[in-house]
Amino acid sequence: MLSKELNERIVRVGPDTPGGRLLRRYWYPVAASVELDANPVKKVRLLSEDLVLYRDRSGNLGLIDEPCPHRRVSMEYGIPEDQGLRCPYHGWLFNHRGECTEQPAEPWNSTFKERVRTKAYPVQELGGLIFAYLGPAPVPLLPRYDLYVWDNVVRQIGATLVPCNWVQPMENSMDPVHVEWLHGYFFNYVLGRKGPGELERFGQRQRRHMKIGFTRFEHGLIKRRVVEGDSEEHDAWRIGHPVIFPNILRVGNGRGVSAFQIRVPVDDEYTWHIWYTAYRTGVSVPPQDSVPYYEVPMLEADGRFIADHIDGQDMLSWSTPGAIAQRDKEHLGQSDVGIIMFRDLLREQIDAVERGQDPIEVYRDPAENQCILMPQEHHQGSVLHIPLPGDYQNQARYSPRLQEVRDLFDEAVRRAGAGEALLPPLQPPLIPWDLEGAPELQRELVIRQG
Ligand code: FES
Ligand SMILES: [Fe+2]
Repeated sequence: MLSKELNERIVRVGPDTPGGRLLRRYWYPVAASVELDANPVKKVRLLSEDLVLYRDRSGNLGLIDEPCPHRRVSMEYGIPEDQGLRCPYHGWLFNHRGECTEQPAEPWNSTFKERVRTKAYPVQELGGLIFAYLGPAPVPLLPRYDLYVWDNVVRQIGATLVPCNWVQPMENSMDPVHVEWLHGYFFNYVLGRKGPGELERFGQRQRRHMKIGFTRFEHGLIKRRVVEGDSEEHDAWRIGHPVIFPNILRVGNGRGVSAFQIRVPVDDEYTWHIWYTAYRTGVSVPPQDSVPYYEVPMLEADGRFIADHIDGQDMLSWSTPGAIAQRDKEHLGQSDVGIIMFRDLLREQIDAVERGQDPIEVYRDPAENQCILMPQEHHQGSVLHIPLPGDYQNQARYSPRLQEVRDLFDEAVRRAGAGEALLPPLQPPLIPWDLEGAPELQRELVIRQG
């Protein structure tokens, strides 16, 4: 458990809070690029600030305060001009630096506009996403994580606005054993109630956890597991799942699918959850003109969570403790050690920012930011067709363009069968697990004797 005071310290994201000051040291996605193709102006809420993102007619991106500084009308209804966004009410024009460049109704010789500014933040585009930075100068580099910059991948972006604080999905990412229950036993229970044949077609194998482990590494934390029938040679133990501090989970299935789950802190009680998937099928592909974006539904018609796929089950587990979990009322067991390590890391980084230091995972050296590789369970083979149940099991089933990816996997299987060369599997970096002399960076728990 955590005292109410400590809970407040880690969950609040506003500008005048300890957690909010830490979170402002990082870049966050605020839109998929294609969203602005459909409508060049998007209202954005990030870290409890109401903002408006736009692309002007010259292609410049801007992110400015939602209310117009004149009479507070929403710039969400602004008109993109050659240089900036024009307020619909009296035509004041603002550029991406927040400068007011026109006030059409003021006298011709007025200098008033030179004394009016609106809040403006830096934005950058990478890998089909538009990112914003709301923190203090100097602005750090936008991290070029592998999935955003790799060649020969097909990317897709799904997202949902989830009604809970961002820390709740992060804690879930440090909780290996829930996979056995929420995505195993409970999944099968839900399938059994859906109707004849569902459990037989899509039922999950519920494999027991023998051992779990957690390690601090340079980018954050890694969770590792050994399940019944596997050994410590398995990638789930040797490599594991990285949590990139503060807000990204990296997953992969070892079959050419790599994904980020990006938890964007909208405010104290909402998280914009992004599933960013990069499919590497083994077939070379040209860069995408644009990365498709789709919304992932969360609720059934009756208002209950959609529970017949893994991501729906996760959203249920993040949200039903309440928008902000009451951590003073929890009863943590030994198997919750990963959650405790995440909270400790978060508190430590909040403290570091209060001491005037940069927190971890802030990049300032371009040489370190060419392509930031993450460990991932990659090398169990690179090419295997993704069967239908795999799509059914997770949010990818809502992608309107999944068939394009399936066709590429089919093509890879065909080429492999014909003896044609495929792209080599990617080799993830390995982490030195035996961090000698640093036991505080590692925890292991044996749950069952083999
Ligand atoms: S309210 Fe925006 S120009 Fe008047
Ligand atoms: Fe999960």
